[in-house]
Amino acid sequence: MLVLGIETSCDECAAAVVDDGPVLRAQTVASQIPVHAPYGGVVPELASRDHMRSIVPVLEQTLAEAGVEGRRLDGIGVTAGPGLIGSLLIGVAAAKALAWALGKPLVGVNHLHAHLHAVFLESSIDYPHLGLVVSGGHTSLFQVAGPAKLDLVGRTLDDAAGEAFDKVAKLLGLAYPGGVSIEEAARGGDPSAIRFPRPMPGKNTDFSFSGLKTSAAVRLKKEGVPTGRALADFTASFQEAVVDTLVRKTLLAARRCRLDRIVVAGGVAANTRLRDKLTAEATGAGLDVLFPGPALCTDNAAMVAALAATHLCAGRDDGFGLDADAGLSWQNG
Ligand code: KG4
Ligand code: ZN
Repeated sequence: MLVLGIETSCDECAAAVVDDGPVLRAQTVASQIPVHAPYGGVVPELASRDHMRSIVPVLEQTLAEAGVEGRRLDGIGVTAGPGLIGSLLIGVAAAKALAWALGKPLVGVNHLHAHLHAVFLESSIDYPHLGLVVSGGHTSLFQVAGPAKLDLVGRTLDDAAGEAFDKVAKLLGLAYPGGVSIEEAARGGDPSAIRFPRPMPGKNTDFSFSGLKTSAAVRLKKEGVPTGRALADFTASFQEAVVDTLVRKTLLAARRCRLDRIVVAGGVAANTRLRDKLTAEATGAGLDVLFPGPALCTDNAAMVAALAATHLCAGRDDGFGLDADAGLSWQNG
């Protein structure tokens, strides 16, 4: 089965073709980093305008690289939500137009489900497992019983972990996206130089990152923006506080749900310190942990195509009634 996936929920304009397996035939990701970098975060209006410019070339390039003519596709999948409404609408409109022109079935995919499904492009893992989705918009723990069957185990009560990285990076004058530049700046730094608070300690599987962000902001206001070795220590200590919290809560949730397999997904899952620490601690506790490769952690269309293929195989066709839904819940899709 050949499936085209389209992802435009935030600031990546992406398309991919997957074959049975799922085997990735081709994927294109047009990043908008240069568009949003001057603002230190995604500007929704600029994002949707850029998607409008990129979507047709991205689709043409992906189909050409896959060596697939549109008429040979078995179906089309597109991220229907959650995300920025203006961005989502471009992807959904393009998917509908293609499905209509080619006479193909069309399915809307939940972006959170797609992140959790990315791992299947590289490995295989049995259900049920614990899923941690950790990105710019989400920090949630799920009991995952199937490709679109989740139960919420914990969530952030305020900022997402990626949002905390992005906001603190902005205060430090580091480049967008903040998670990447904080990880870079932290290289060689001492993660125990500053004892940042570990939010929501104890037996709770919810997260909170706004207190940690405030603590970093207060320190920067008092002491000024560090440079050189002090910047490496600051960013390494901040990163350690975020990673420590994610690792502790994930292991607690796995124990509580009696799950011995963990999948980590979303942009922050590309963070090397998180990958190393969670892998070491989970393995020590007798748990299996899987991360998709870094390029499949951040937003991409391969994960959308792979999940769409499972929906299409199950006979689903959402037809032209499909709508973008900025607030699509993890329970739907
Ligand atoms: O999944 P994603 O591409 O988009 C959303 O669905 O939000 O995640 C983007 C988030 C941003 O907040 C970015 O700073 C963070 O993921 N991120 C990272 C790293 N790479 C991306 N955070 C920490 N370390 C990284 N290496
Ligand atoms: Zn995402």
